[in-house]
Amino acid sequence: MVQRNKNIAKLQAGYLFPEINRRKSEFIAKNPDAKIISLGIGNTTEPLQSTAVKALKDASEAMGTAEGYSGYGDEQGMTALREKIAEKFYNNIIPADEIFVSDGAKCDTGRLQMMFGSDSTIAVQDPSYPVYVDSAVIMGQSQLYNKDNDQFNGIEYMPCTAENGFFPELKAADVIYFCSPNNPTGAVATKEQLTKLVKFAKDNKSIIVFDAAYAEFISDPDLPKSIYEIEGADEVAIEVCSFSKPFGYTGVRLGWTVVPKALKFEDGSSVRDDWNRIMTTVFNGASNIIQTATINMLNDEGMKEMRELVAFYMENARLIKNALDSYGFTTYGGDNAPYIWVKTDKMDSWEAFSYILETAHIVTTPGAGFGPAGDGYVRFSAFGGRENILEAIDRMKGLSL
Ligand code: MLT
Repeated sequence: MVQRNKNIAKLQAGYLFPEINRRKSEFIAKNPDAKIISLGIGNTTEPLQSTAVKALKDASEAMGTAEGYSGYGDEQGMTALREKIAEKFYNNIIPADEIFVSDGAKCDTGRLQMMFGSDSTIAVQDPSYPVYVDSAVIMGQSQLYNKDNDQFNGIEYMPCTAENGFFPELKAADVIYFCSPNNPTGAVATKEQLTKLVKFAKDNKSIIVFDAAYAEFISDPDLPKSIYEIEGADEVAIEVCSFSKPFGYTGVRLGWTVVPKALKFEDGSSVRDDWNRIMTTVFNGASNIIQTATINMLNDEGMKEMRELVAFYMENARLIKNALDSYGFTTYGGDNAPYIWVKTDKMDSWEAFSYILETAHIVTTPGAGFGPAGDGYVRFSAFGGRENILEAIDRMKGLSL
């Protein structure tokens, strides 16, 4: 018999969002008439914008012609798309050949672990997007789970709490995961805070994996959208980013990772070269249709439509936050991020999740699912149709957490 991978055996439960779905399905089985509103996983709900639809149609049709057909492409992504990403999202401060196009930020986050290998140590914000810790455990970067503190031994947890303004006391590790705008707390790091992070990484010879998947939800011009707005960040940081949320691409699949040439390992070798090696080995490039369509969509009209879509979800965030504030809840985030982080005082976060599901028929995400410091909070996602958001707000009236 084949032995089970001992690192997978260390994981405590299923991945967070399928677990939430399982509990939701269990509830529906017992309450078939309940009209459930899902504000759990940050899943986009609005149809693709018109520039994307046209570009996808055109790109599909071209594949049906002798001139337009293409097979395998560059694993790193189409050059024109890498150039467009550099122009539209980085004002060309990042060269196109440091941008690797992929099928999404989550997939890249997992693949990055292959590059770092099992001997690396990691530090994560607590709470954090579960992929960082889970993929580290699977890669063998942790020891066993410690039930006393709900942490994996060997992983550095950096609590982000209301008391520290959701910016943690930084801890040294080979790789520091940092997400801003933050999933799940909705906090956005300032330039000063990111400058501190970059300096800390330099001093401790760490590499930062900066998750900027929600960058386009920042409207405050003083808040940095990319780690590369901080001087010297190209020597210490990788950035992962995504088309999923701002362009409604959660089901279309496209993202990218920036690995600067200036970033080196301890022995002086190039991190970018190793990432290239990983990507050429385990990835065959994102879909040609999606890449071609996105090249043709990243124009003034496409960017305008993206901003409208983001504004729609951010109006949802404003409505949820204002309503919950007016009901007396303590809320964080939701201003420059599509997540609202809500304090629970009388119950733990899984109890709050069940209570909201059973009482208001709304699916949220329990804060503890993102790490031990997330207990005492639930996360509301602003991704939803307007009618559902208004209905959910109405149903939350009178609840007390
Ligand atoms: C979340 O709900 O935290 C994320 O949207 C899920 C994801 O992006 O994988």
